[in-house]
Amino acid sequence: MPLRITQSQRLAIKEATQILEGGGLVAMPTETVYGLAADASNEDAISKVFSLKGRPSDRPLIVHIGQSEWLERWACEIPSYAHALIKAFWPGPLTLVLPKQRGVSTKVTGGQSTVAVRVPNHPVALALLQSFGKGLVAPSANRYGHISPTSASDVTAEFGDEIPLILDGGSCEVGIESTIVSCLSEGPRILRLGSISPQALASVLGRSVEVGSEEAVVVPGQVLSHYAPKTPTRRWTKGDQSDPNLHFVDQKVGFLGFFDPPIGVEQAIVLPLDPVKAGAALYRSLRLLDEAGLNLILVAEPPIEDEWDAIRDRMQRASAGV
Ligand code: TXA
Ligand code: MG
Repeated sequence: MPLRITQSQRLAIKEATQILEGGGLVAMPTETVYGLAADASNEDAISKVFSLKGRPSDRPLIVHIGQSEWLERWACEIPSYAHALIKAFWPGPLTLVLPKQRGVSTKVTGGQSTVAVRVPNHPVALALLQSFGKGLVAPSANRYGHISPTSASDVTAEFGDEIPLILDGGSCEVGIESTIVSCLSEGPRILRLGSISPQALASVLGRSVEVGSEEAVVVPGQVLSHYAPKTPTRRWTKGDQSDPNLHFVDQKVGFLGFFDPPIGVEQAIVLPLDPVKAGAALYRSLRLLDEAGLNLILVAEPPIEDEWDAIRDRMQRASAGV
């Protein structure tokens, strides 16, 4: 990731700031995926985000802030373990769910009394936030349910010229969405897996961190089929080779996995056997297969070790629709 931003990025950030101040939308890079940014204090701007994405209005948005000092504008009753996580991981791919401050619009929170907040770790996003000076909602810049974008051209493929400005910050280093941690109870709980693992959180806190939503915690947006290609996509394990339905007569089949593809596959992408590198390549690979004119995409299982859990989660959701 470039530490400094270029002159042309600087000019684009100035233009983006003006668009945001006028209640418009801009796409911005983050270290995880590209976001569709709007003024988190402007309800009309937030409505535009929901309608452009085709996202149900009860699915809450993440507020992106420029530095941890802005957190109190958005959240309250911040437990000490949340402060420890902030110190260790912000700026970075960690979103915290906390009780919302009184003034925070329920349009942001999907009608809930809690709010999700993070400080992204990308120089262009941070420069935009500093220039704008206020929080930005930024859901992933894709149509609802589709694959999240990890480059400026992915955002163009999703929305064309429906967004007035797409800030180009290169390819996203992390490539999957932030880890979401609920800080509403005595102990933290992971609501969405991401590159910051339960083990990494636990080692900072000196206590174990549970994964999965409690019944009391509503996690809208965590629907099973998500991050999905438009092409029918299903899971594939090595044993499926003997499945007669998988003798791909007259079918153009794509494969995304970690080992040799099954016989008869037209296009295969083999991901690196390293969860960090595989995460960075995952959505780009799914997009390439989705654009290849295939009838079916097969998605293999990643290795069983814990360090693959976030990638397993995304691969399962990508293939949950069939
Ligand atoms: O990495 C990321 O988090 C990216 C980049 C752009 O920052 N953003 C992102 O936003 O993934 P989005 O809108 O695609 O996903 C937001 C997730 C949803 O699963 C939503 O349910 C959850 O955050 N969320 C937001 N507010 C919440 C709340 N108050 N309680 C529980 N979950 C919440
Ligand atoms: Mg999303």
